[in-house]
Amino acid sequence: MTGTSGFGDFDRQVVVIGGCGHVGLPLAIAFASRGARVGIYDVSQASVETVNAGRMPFAEPGAAEVLKHAVSVGLLEASTDPAIVGSAEHVVVVIGTPVDEHLNPDQAAIPNALGGCTEHLRDGQLLILRSTVYPGVTALVEKMVAGFGAQIEVAFCPERIAEGKAMTELFELPQIVSARSATALERASALFGMLTSKLVTMSPEEAELAKLFTNVWRYIKFATANQLYMMANDRGLDFERIRQGLTADYPRAADMPAAGFAAGPCLFKDTMQLAAFNHNNFALGHTAMAINEGLPLYLVHRLEQEYDLESMTVGILGMAFKGGSDDIRSSLSYKLKRILAFKADAVLCTDPYVTVDPGLLPLAQVVARSDLLVIGAPHPQYSDLVTDKPVADIWNMLGQGVRI
Ligand SMILES: NC(=O)c1ccc[n+]([C@@H]2O[C@H](COP(=O)([O-])OP(=O)(O)OC[C@H]3O[C@@H](n4cnc5c(N)ncnc54)[C@H](O)[C@@H]3O)[C@@H](O)[C@H]2O)c1
Repeated sequence: MTGTSGFGDFDRQVVVIGGCGHVGLPLAIAFASRGARVGIYDVSQASVETVNAGRMPFAEPGAAEVLKHAVSVGLLEASTDPAIVGSAEHVVVVIGTPVDEHLNPDQAAIPNALGGCTEHLRDGQLLILRSTVYPGVTALVEKMVAGFGAQIEVAFCPERIAEGKAMTELFELPQIVSARSATALERASALFGMLTSKLVTMSPEEAELAKLFTNVWRYIKFATANQLYMMANDRGLDFERIRQGLTADYPRAADMPAAGFAAGPCLFKDTMQLAAFNHNNFALGHTAMAINEGLPLYLVHRLEQEYDLESMTVGILGMAFKGGSDDIRSSLSYKLKRILAFKADAVLCTDPYVTVDPGLLPLAQVVARSDLLVIGAPHPQYSDLVTDKPVADIWNMLGQGVRI
């Protein structure tokens, strides 16, 4: 397949920088599933080998079979050699953009990653930023690219899928497309038009904020539910009964989330990115962070009022950051584990999906050896749990309420 830019031929339509990650790989697979020839450049040797063997380095429902097929027919290939970046007309950048331990965004993450590929960028390529970026990074990259001397256009098309739903949402969610020039906008639209006909165009500055606002909105909604949960719980009332009652046939409150750990690699850090962008003047965002990050502390505080934790073994069921996921990045179950390790006699952990933590035990063992159980992640398996041990179940997995 060749390029359409008029700058000569490319071997591939798309190359994804960071394409073995949680966002990059489903995207690469999605393009390949639409017949595009796709390359991946990733610095993780282990992930590149796994992908080239036709296997997923992490769980993503519906992705494994499509990946296997795409690799077997030669439509998808991963490499740790940055030279692959020169092989495609569209270069999509989707590396991680975390905040540091002091909650500072790293505005240089994307420019630095691109710096490693500079010599392979070619005339006629369209560089598409897809990571969630600190506002202004698109303009920074445009400036950087202008200095390369090659004719390369830049677009910013943020990813908005939720992990676990990538292989449906990539084809169903509207795609935000932004670029400074009409041709870049047209080319990015044509590329994402392979996945969906629902395109929303914006300026890069609008799109950068749109992506951050999307995540911040969700994070604040979770925090609101969690604050209301604590308020009801402190009065001996079951928040879930209240929530279900008030949302029943009442559309204006239908989007009130249930209580639970709001964690993972995106919502927290993007709220902090937006706060930093607004000179740390973001009371709602900071308060949401304090509430969501404070929930494990609150739970343990409540548990120690009711139980003699010091003499007890506590079992945590579910270590991933959300139900049905194997991803433990920024999981509040691990924060809960640290707090309990200090307060309880012993802590045991289990998770049916997580493969990267050698300390995890089988569910039956954790249930048998624990005096008290806490559901950390709402994995569907736990709804069948039968035990005579007390269970702290903020998620209402057992259907017996969320009071703790
Ligand atoms: N995880 C999500 O649900 C989600 C959803 C929407 C948007 N995002 C955003 O997408 C971006 C990526 O997130 P992710 O969860 O996929 O991260 P990830 O850590 O799973 O993936 C990043 C990949 O990039 C690779 N990489 C790192 N530096 C590189 C470099 N210099 N050159 C080439 N490859 C490099 C890593 O090896 C990894 O495979 C972030 O900006 C995130 O905020 C994530």
